[in-house]
Amino acid sequence: MMLSEDSICYETYQETADWLLSRTKQRPRVAIICGSGLGMLAEALANQEVFKYTDVPNFPQSTVQGHAGQLVFGELKGKACVCMQGRFHKFEGYPLIKVTFPVRVFRLLGVEVLIVTNAAGSIADGYNIGDLMIIKDHINLPGLAGQHPLCGPNDERFGSRFPCMSDAYDGDLCKLALNISRELDCSDYMHEGVYCMVGGPSFETIAEARLLHTLGVDAVGMSTVPEVTLARHCGLRVFGLSLITNKVTKEYDSNEVVDHEAVLGIGKRRAGLLQSFVTELVARMEFNAGC
Ligand code: HPA
Repeated sequence: MMLSEDSICYETYQETADWLLSRTKQRPRVAIICGSGLGMLAEALANQEVFKYTDVPNFPQSTVQGHAGQLVFGELKGKACVCMQGRFHKFEGYPLIKVTFPVRVFRLLGVEVLIVTNAAGSIADGYNIGDLMIIKDHINLPGLAGQHPLCGPNDERFGSRFPCMSDAYDGDLCKLALNISRELDCSDYMHEGVYCMVGGPSFETIAEARLLHTLGVDAVGMSTVPEVTLARHCGLRVFGLSLITNKVTKEYDSNEVVDHEAVLGIGKRRAGLLQSFVTELVARMEFNAGC
């Protein structure tokens, strides 16, 4: 059943969490959101239990090509995880309360760490297609303009009215990720940078790309920031990773153009590396209560 955005409240999230908890014995500490073309991350999970979004009470449905639309419970090196194969975007027409719906459900399942991945265009000059970027910070462009997932009444059971965002991305997890990238021999194409969310669905004009460059943006995409904001609001630690699928041109005489098919194709090329990287990160992360 399609839920109206006004009727979503604490009990709605609880109902969804209870439904899942009654159907699986797995108790994930880590949730992973797979970005466009990155759904193969879920394939690395052992002992899979799959729930289609269409079967999960109150869950929005995914419409974007390249997104499977299912929750996959399973283990990475013995650590219990839940993976979203397919996320919800503002540009699909979802209100931000629905875009972020799964994050609060994850919190109620007992998740402690959220890993977000996305496909992004590079704004930074030194990046190449196929590079990875550890997100060290973000710019919530829609949020700064009032399109913020926490607008409206605040439920203190999730978090405070004015949550801090200066520590949005967990410093220890970033350090761990950098160490892993050295061990996996991928430091040459691993960066740390600032991600900016734009509303989409059109890609950037050259003037917009120049504006983002001036603002200190390294990579741009149409997702991630609402989920990260909600995750921090309810106390989850966050790690973010962008796969650079295209270069955003800042020059009027450039022939560089971007299309969605190409964006999805890069994900396939980097599938193996992303799986090893995220598996290693999850295997080595520490949790509050022993896991
Ligand atoms: N711009 C915005 N979103 C994107 C891009 C881009 O160039 N590439 C992948 N997602």
